[in-house]
Amino acid sequence: MKKIIHVVGARPNFMKAAPVWKAIEDLQLFEQILVHTGQHYDKAMSDIFFKELNLPKPNYNLNIGSQTHAHQTAAIMIGLEDLLLNVSPNLVIVYGDVNSTVAAALVCSKIYIPFAHVEAGLRSFDRRMPEEINRLVTDQLADLLFTPSQDADQNLLKEGINDRKIHFVGNVMIDTLKKLLAKANPPEKYAELNNYILVTLHRPSNVDDVTNLNSIFDSLIEVSKTFPVIFPIHPRTKNVLKKIDIDLNNTGNLHLTDPIGYLEFLGLMQNAKAVITDSGGIQEETTWLGIPCLTVRENTERPVTVTMGTNQLIGLDYHKIPQSIHNIELDKEYDIPPLWDGSSARRIAGIIKDYLAV
Ligand code: UD1
Repeated sequence: MKKIIHVVGARPNFMKAAPVWKAIEDLQLFEQILVHTGQHYDKAMSDIFFKELNLPKPNYNLNIGSQTHAHQTAAIMIGLEDLLLNVSPNLVIVYGDVNSTVAAALVCSKIYIPFAHVEAGLRSFDRRMPEEINRLVTDQLADLLFTPSQDADQNLLKEGINDRKIHFVGNVMIDTLKKLLAKANPPEKYAELNNYILVTLHRPSNVDDVTNLNSIFDSLIEVSKTFPVIFPIHPRTKNVLKKIDIDLNNTGNLHLTDPIGYLEFLGLMQNAKAVITDSGGIQEETTWLGIPCLTVRENTERPVTVTMGTNQLIGLDYHKIPQSIHNIELDKEYDIPPLWDGSSARRIAGIIKDYLAV
């Protein structure tokens, strides 16, 4: 039986890998092996997602943990090279744009193992973002590129990628969302809150700098005078939180909490008045759900969420956040982008079957 290895490492990989794993399993043609690099390792950032998304326990865990970019990427490469040489898979699948993705891409290329990139072709055109570097390198090297939207195909063609490698399949994260929506509920402790604003912020450009994080909090406290605000704090943000001038035990209607699992987060998202975020995936999920999304960035690698969906880029002028909330048009027309239909993973499995010609 031909072998397929899936490499995952960080929270946003898990919801993309789960439907692809299942769709390939349904073919009953391949042996599948799951490798977790350990880039994210907390229960709240990793374990809970495996349970909720019904991902099997990884066959291998490289336990890399948090380090600087070079150390983290290099450690994943060293661990994966040994593993891939031993297991000798026929195909590797990598997801998204995290350090685990680019590390696997480099290793596969140098030992001539073909690999597929799920969520290929997204570009913010901002090379200060580590994820943009990861996307550019991964896509140059990939043998199969599965794109979530047609703008991604155009980006890849402009970068000289052979069009025979590019497959527009739609958004696998929406497969997971559609499948699990019925099971999604907000956490019990927020069951009474209505008309709330949900916030997630973890980009280095927003949260690593104390001055920025201070002004973000000033704005969120301002917003919380009108609407309840729920803010699950990413570990990266938590690291900086200790240094800012706010009394964390006394934030009133701004509810700070630890990172939340997939089902509870989805429950919060679908009932929110609006979402404020700098995440990539949440821009897409809110578009599908029809919930207004204010993205605290100057650019997005997911332009269809702005042109077709509910997403609005509000830039980095943090003090404008309260005004942007008040300006949200509740009746803005929006559409769901093509092929965000819950069947993207099935399309991927079909293409992989042909590629491996079994
Ligand atoms: C990574 C991804 C980013 C993705 C994000 C989602 C890269 C370059 N970035 O960023 O694209 O949007 O994951 O969460 O791959 N930490 C913990 N526990 C964990 C994981 C991390 O405490 O389980 C802390 C560590 O202190 C670490 C910090 O979070 O220093 C950042 O983790 P890291 O994986 O390096 O990057 P993220 O900011 O999470």
